[in-house]
Amino acid sequence: MNKPFSAACERNRDPILKVLEQVITPKDLRLLEIGAGTGQHAVYLAPHFPWMEWHPTDVGANLAGISLWVGEARLFNLQKPVRLDVSVDDFPKLKFDVVFTANTFHIMSWKDCKSCMKTMGKRLREGSRAIIYGPFKYNGEFTSESNAAFDMSLKENNPVSGIRAFEDVNNAMTKNGFVLMNDYEMPANNRMLVYRRLQFVG
Ligand SMILES: C[S@@+](CC[C@H](N)C(=O)[O-])C[C@H]1O[C@@H](n2cnc3c(N)ncnc32)[C@H](O)[C@@H]1O
Repeated sequence: MNKPFSAACERNRDPILKVLEQVITPKDLRLLEIGAGTGQHAVYLAPHFPWMEWHPTDVGANLAGISLWVGEARLFNLQKPVRLDVSVDDFPKLKFDVVFTANTFHIMSWKDCKSCMKTMGKRLREGSRAIIYGPFKYNGEFTSESNAAFDMSLKENNPVSGIRAFEDVNNAMTKNGFVLMNDYEMPANNRMLVYRRLQFVG
């Protein structure tokens, strides 16, 4: 098996890194990546945060490909990928300071997005951050014609996929105990939503 390759990952990894450098602090010891895809983000980003364990996860079908990247990189803080299908799995039984997920919410069904955000709320403690990268709609409008076309192609491919409304994501995150810290504008009509877990109440 050859290593899987995503050209988009190569293009967006530096802009993503710039935001992570603002959000991740030396106190953050463990990051969970959901939907790691090929594993390229993990391999590129993990060495920039050498004090922090990077835990890539994805559905079972992608683990072999991610393992090839992770094995070849031989990075001491990058962990072996583990299965995490947000529709059925809890996070690994570890304390995570940061959850990062890129380009997953427009692929997963909205039901699965909601499960993912619910688990983030259940498993992250006060002060932890959840970072969601990808395209979003605002006030019912796509942010570009290319995103509108992308949404159509996603739905042709799988009717449950599609670009999510920022407001729906934000409402679900708020309901699960998070506050939006920043909504970064990113290249190619993407956004990076950075949330902080508030104190548990009740
Ligand atoms: C477009 S790829 C993005 C991959 C990578 N994060 C990137 O930015 O290149 C979408 C990813 O979401 C993952 N995904 C889809 N449904 C999922 C689910 N239910 N649980 C976890 N990951 C899921 C896919 O397996 C895939 O790796």
